[in-house]
Amino acid sequence: MKSVLRLATVDPDERSRTVLKSMLVGVDTVWLEAECARYEVFMEVARQTLPDIAVVNLDSNPQRGLQLVGELARSQISCAILVVSSSQEGSLILQAMRNGAREFLNLPLQLEDFVAALDRLRVSLGGVGTEGASRSGTIVTVAGVSGGVGCTALAVNAGAALAIDSENSPVIIDLDLTLGDADVWLDIIPEYTIKDIVESINRLDYGLLKRSLTRHSCGAFLLPRPIELEHAEMIRPDDLRRILSLLKATFSHLIIDVSKSFSRLDMAVMEVSDRVLLVTQLDLSCLRNVIRIMQLLDHYPLIKGKVEIIVNRVGLEDCDISLNKALETIGRSVYWQLPNDYSVMSGARNNGIPLAQFAPRAKLTKAISEMIHRLTAPVDPAGRPVEEPAKKRGGLFGLFAGR
Ligand SMILES: Nc1ncnc2c1ncn2[C@@H]1O[C@H](COP(=O)(O)OP(=O)(O)OP(=O)(O)O)[C@@H](O)[C@H]1O
Ligand SMILES: [Mg+2]
Repeated sequence: MKSVLRLATVDPDERSRTVLKSMLVGVDTVWLEAECARYEVFMEVARQTLPDIAVVNLDSNPQRGLQLVGELARSQISCAILVVSSSQEGSLILQAMRNGAREFLNLPLQLEDFVAALDRLRVSLGGVGTEGASRSGTIVTVAGVSGGVGCTALAVNAGAALAIDSENSPVIIDLDLTLGDADVWLDIIPEYTIKDIVESINRLDYGLLKRSLTRHSCGAFLLPRPIELEHAEMIRPDDLRRILSLLKATFSHLIIDVSKSFSRLDMAVMEVSDRVLLVTQLDLSCLRNVIRIMQLLDHYPLIKGKVEIIVNRVGLEDCDISLNKALETIGRSVYWQLPNDYSVMSGARNNGIPLAQFAPRAKLTKAISEMIHRLTAPVDPAGRPVEEPAKKRGGLFGLFAGR
């Protein structure tokens, strides 16, 4: 699991404190370090626990709460301040922000609003190098230019490759809602699917979300497509965006296998993704589709800069077009090439074992692993790779991360 963001909260009202606590249960990236029932003593609590984030509830005494926000902001305790209140009064919000709050959320708290605010704070804390703050999950969508080009093979095996590092917690999401077969690749008979999550979207909590995922022995989780064909239509883009934002807060990587129809749902997923992989092979109809699909994606400002072309099954005899000729045809660069190895790939699939376990030394396994690690490596604002800090063993963070 990812490293943990430590939180301390002050709220004299026990009921709303309990609501906050129950919301935090299951968010693996957040740890409630301290809770406090009095504004007067919170400075001391914060000094002793040095949280990454202080959550201040203003409702019991707005003036005293605002004063505390100011004291915290001026102090040496370099925590981000998140203010919550059931008041929507503009002057209160303005005053909280002027006093130094980074975020203001209205009560009752919505899980995804809360998670999104934590996510923003996590990014800003990460930016100043705060120890313990982590990035939220990276979303990679795998799309294909034609049926059978190898999207599911890539999504499943990229997820499994990431899972080798125990710091990672990748989820493979099967959004080929009618015909998806990621469960076959992982030999999983799912009990719950994405349909169960959507059905309970309004009372969604992390417990339910996690119960709907199945963990494979390789370490990757799977969120399967609905079992019944007709249930595919139940999944709407808004629901999906909510689910992804929640999964992002707890899992390190979301690898999404979309359909080949470039539907509204597929496009919505690509828009919220960090990277979009467009898988092709070196034959004429595939290459023609690369051009057509890139033209389509160019019309989507939230997608066009994220697309990378992956050429799969390089060396396949049927594909008589050379890579150079292909590059000339499509007029774009290729991000990665994956070799053709039918016996290894079909062996892995037929046994329901990902390549990382089935054939760890194969050239194809290594090519997929290198590609996904390179693609998801952290970068600085200028796009240069960032060196990960040396991992800490044990200690406070180790303890919480293993919870
Ligand atoms: N690099 C590769 N080398 C050899 N065979 C491969 C490779 N990648 C995929 N395959 C094979 O190609 C076939 C199709 O792969 P896969 O199911 O992943 O494609 P897809 O794009 O998900 O198809 P669909 O359109 O049905 O969703 C599978 O039999 C798989 O074993
Ligand atoms: Mg597929």
